[in-house]
This record gives sequence, structure tokens and C-alpha cells, in this order.
Amino acid sequence: MPLPDPALVVLVGASGSGKSTWAASRYRVDEIVSSDALRGVVGSGEHDLDASADAFAMLEQVVAARLGRRLTTVVDTLGTDATRRRAWREAARAAGLPAVAVVLDTPAAVCRSRNSRRDRPVPARILTSQLAAVTATVEILAAEGWQVVRVAPELSRPGEVAEVGPSATAATPATAPTAAGASRLRGVVLQLSSFPADGDLLGWLRDMAAAGEEAGLAGLALMDHLIQIPQVGRAWDPIPEPWVTLGALAASTTRLQLGTLVTPVTFRAPGITAKAAATLSALSGGRAFVGVGAGWWEREHAAYGLGFPSARVRLDAMEQGIETMKALWAPGTKAYVGQRVSLPETTSYPRPATEIPVLVGGGGDRTLGIAARLGDGCNVPSDEVGLAKVARYLTLVELAGRDPSTVHATVLDLPLVGRDRDDVWSRVERHRGRTAAATFAARHHAGTANEHAARLAGLAGQGVTTVFVAPVGLDRPEDVLALAPLTSTFG
Ligand code: UTP
Ligand code: MG
Repeated sequence: MPLPDPALVVLVGASGSGKSTWAASRYRVDEIVSSDALRGVVGSGEHDLDASADAFAMLEQVVAARLGRRLTTVVDTLGTDATRRRAWREAARAAGLPAVAVVLDTPAAVCRSRNSRRDRPVPARILTSQLAAVTATVEILAAEGWQVVRVAPELSRPGEVAEVGPSATAATPATAPTAAGASRLRGVVLQLSSFPADGDLLGWLRDMAAAGEEAGLAGLALMDHLIQIPQVGRAWDPIPEPWVTLGALAASTTRLQLGTLVTPVTFRAPGITAKAAATLSALSGGRAFVGVGAGWWEREHAAYGLGFPSARVRLDAMEQGIETMKALWAPGTKAYVGQRVSLPETTSYPRPATEIPVLVGGGGDRTLGIAARLGDGCNVPSDEVGLAKVARYLTLVELAGRDPSTVHATVLDLPLVGRDRDDVWSRVERHRGRTAAATFAARHHAGTANEHAARLAGLAGQGVTTVFVAPVGLDRPEDVLALAPLTSTFG
């Protein structure tokens, strides 16, 4: 059973029940506050009972400081002191963290035999009173307001600790995206948003894309910006032109779907985007998709001599743009007379190798309506607000008389992915800037790939067909390969 995280986790168990062993197998050293360890810090060693008062004073200070920062805190004491428990629980509640009591259900005989084999066993009568105190504590934990988790003895054996949700996250062989229409873009698509400042850009792109194919990703998306955006990097960090770059990627990949997330209608006349995407489709054997948006960053428009009209005008242009692209991609060369656009002819060769999906980025009401009526998909953030928009979008699709199973409900997710708990938190420290660690970790769902896979499965359950992931700090092929467990969720 997955424990909440972040959380206050208070261990309850007699000496030798396996508390420290259990904690060490799941949490980072810095997350565990142990009265024994602190006796070693302020006293002569773990067993220096004369140092208990100082050790507990220190423990209380550490617990209060960590909970105040909403950081996971595992309290490794006997857990039988009701007064201390109440104070910890109240501190957790004040911080808005769940309070979990983990009870080590190790039989008394096992505790006794482990105890007797230790270098400095606890005296037998003390162990007996500990066992009685634990039994009494277990009876009142739920009434005190703890979420009680019991660890069966076999689960507390070192090396055999139950992993969080093993069945949901077991890596299965990645399936290649099928060639059939709407299903091609289903799955996890990597959005590359930052690029190496020097060195071999093409070689780097090839290596990243090869890793993406190996990891079983459905596709690769590039942002379409003229200056690196502040959310990602500094203005002088490189950001290559996406359609040119996607052409290079087409040549070095065979399976990944390739497209932009998203192309602002303000950058290029839509006919030119239609031409670029059709060419990409022809070059890649039908692997092109187009993300479109209304544009939002005035600075890049000014710098490149582009107009940046009002939102209403930009959204009008987006509607016209989608209509124009679809007209140019349609079979034949006949004149097109539409609602918003008329073209004297639609001569456009090469033709796209397969239908090119148009994903409309943005969550405004009008944008979702455009996505539902004219586009083939939406793209919104993966947070709660975004997921409500996915639901709204799917409703609008039905209202427009279309079949929701043929569209792409896509979200953009910015995960922080680490190899293990230690790696996760060292990445949080490296990338959080001035944001509090707990806030940054929560925003990016900081966790291992298996934890992200379980989360993404939840998104799929809410109608999401495609998750665009832009992992924090992703810059090496190994980081891309590490995403493999995520792809099984949507495979
Ligand atoms: P722990 O040191 O984890 O117990 O295990 P504890 O509850 O934290 O004990 P105190 O309160 O600090 O004294 C005690 C011994 O049992 C072994 C450990 O390797 C350690 O030597 N152990 C623990 C097992 O053999 N199997 C287990 O599943 C857990
Ligand atoms: Mg211990």
C-alpha cells in the first residue's frame, strides 16, 4: 500500500521489531529522525541512556523544523509516548501533512530473539514492558487520529520490503505505436525544451531521440519559441527552430511521432505551417503532428518584428489557421470555400503521408471550443485545473457531434524523475532554485519512474490519451531511458 508523501510517519514497535530497518529501506537518511541515532550525536553512542533528554530535545526540534517545511519526517522511536505523539500529530496537522503511524507487527518472540543476539541487548524485563506498551498504544492509535499502517513481519525483512504498487508499475515491454489514425499519438510524448549550449546539437538530438525510441515513447515534441522562455531557461540559452529540427529528427528516427507543442499562429502564415508539416509527414512516413496556439509571449514577437494583436484577434487567426491547414492537406487541388477562409485552390504537394493531427494548446473557454470543433485534440496542464478542462473538452467534443474516442485529450506534465529516493531529492535540491523544496517537489510530483507511472495511470483513467512530459533537468539520453516505466501506463 503506498504511504502518503509528504507525510509525518511515526514508527511504533518494540526493540528489535525492525523499525530502523523498515525506515532505512524506504526513506532517505535525512528523512529519518531517530532517538537512538541522536543519542550517538549528543552522547557517547546509540545506547548512551544518559543522553536521552538531550537527544529527545534535539529530535523534537528536527521534527518541528521539517514538518514546518512540509518535508517527509519519519520518527524512529518506540512510539509509545502519547504526549509526544499528540504534539507531532498537531504539528503535522498545522503543516497540512497526513499523520501516519506505522506499526511493526513483529511477534514478541522474534523481538526477543533478535534482541538477545545484539551486542548490547535491552534487558529482558524492559523489552517485556516495551511490548506491553506497544500493544496498548496500537489499541488507541486510530482513535487518536492516526492513519494506521501495519507492517507484517515478513514485509519487514530486509530486502523484501513491499515496493509501492509493484503490480501497477511492473515494467512491461514497450509497445510500438500502431499505425492507426488517432491511436498513433497515444502514450507518452517527450517534450524537449532545453538544448545544449555548445557541442554537437545534431548528435545530441539523435542520441536523445534514439533513447526515446528505446524507452517506448510515442513521440517527440518541440516547443516553438524564438527566445528561450523564462519558465525553462535564460534568454541566451539556445532554442532551435522546431520545423527544421523536426526534419533532422525525422531522418534519425523510425517510430516516434514528431511535432510542435505548440506553434503560435502569430509566427507563420498557416499555409506555411501546413507546408512544413506536410513535408515532415512525407519525410517521416506519416509521423507528423501540429500543435497550435494563440501565442502568449509578446517579447519574442517584438524582437523578431512580428505583430502581436489582441487575444481575440489571435484566436480568430487560430480558427482560420486550422481551417487553412486542413484545406491544404485535403485531397485534390480544388478551390476551398469555408466559413472563415476561402482559397482559390488547394494545391499542396507533397501530400501528408497520413492524416496530421492538430492539437490546440490552451485552456480558455474559447480555445477549448475551437479544439473541440476544429482540432483533433486539446493540450492543457496535467494539474487538477487542467484535468477539469480535459473533461470539459471531451464534453464539448460530444456537443460538436464528434466521437470522443477519435480525439486526443493531451496534458503537459513536468515531472521530476529520479532513480531512487536519494536521487529524487538531490535533483530537487539541484533544480528548486529559491522555491521551497516541498513546494517544488509537489509541483513536479518528484518521484521515481515507477511512482510517475502509477500517477500517469490515474491520468489515463480521467480520459487523458497522451501525456507530454517535459522532465525537470532532462539533458542526457540516460534521463530519457529512465522514462521507460512511464510508457507502460499508456502502452
Ligand atoms: P532494527 O534495528 O530495525 O529494530 O532491527 P528496531 O525496531 O529499530 O530496534 P530498536 O528499537 O532500534 O532497538 C533489529 C535487528 O533485527 C534485524 C536487524 O538486522 C537488526 O539486527 N532484522 C530486522 C531482521 O533480521 N529482520 C527484519 O525484518 C528486521
Ligand atoms: Mg532502531
